[in-house]
Amino acid sequence: MLKEIKTRTIIAPHPVLIIGTYDEEKNPDAMNVAWGGQCWSNQIALNISTNHKTTENMHKTGAFTVHIADEERVELADYVGITSGHDKSKLSRVNATVTPAQKVNAPIIEEFSLVMECKVVSMIENGDGSTRVVGEVVRTAADDTIIDENGKIDYSRLHPITFDSESNSYRALGPIVAKAFSVGKKLQ
Ligand SMILES: Cc1cc2nc3c(=O)[nH]c(=O)nc-3n(C[C@H](O)[C@H](O)[C@H](O)COP(=O)(O)O)c2cc1C
Repeated sequence: MLKEIKTRTIIAPHPVLIIGTYDEEKNPDAMNVAWGGQCWSNQIALNISTNHKTTENMHKTGAFTVHIADEERVELADYVGITSGHDKSKLSRVNATVTPAQKVNAPIIEEFSLVMECKVVSMIENGDGSTRVVGEVVRTAADDTIIDENGKIDYSRLHPITFDSESNSYRALGPIVAKAFSVGKKLQ
């Protein structure tokens, strides 16, 4: 029997997405987003505060990059989530290696091993200080070290981190427990 607890949204794991944008002078910015994810085969949805530098930048450029944060870069991932681009040039402060994306007007932060370049499809203000952004993935790039023999991303080499909003912590991704679209067949 389940016991009622305080009403709140408890979803785990949240991804840890590092969103890269340029301002009008091509100054790069990055932020940490946990309220985001894949929302169609080639689309990513983000829920971000309307007053973030990132949101302002997206309105101007119509573009952003999505990097997957990993265990090795957890400090960098957290840092861009607790420092605003309105206050300081956060990426140059930590000497991050920034290069322009190839298909969109947004920066790539080379420290991360997996990046998706996105064109903004829609930005809708929710009326509560947040904006829902949908982007279309137009290019994906990955470091050789995380690509397996079949050209797929090997998560056991990428070491992606997830966000646990109950304990305000970053957690590692666990091992494979079963094959999807398959293990349930036993009950059909
Ligand atoms: C773990 C974590 C998750 C976060 N998730 C979100 C999020 O989903 N949406 C959001 O608006 N801000 C989120 N933030 C806060 C922003 O990353 C932070 O306010 C950042 O400084 C905004 O940067 P900017 O002003 O340069 O765009 C998160 C921060 C952390 C540390």
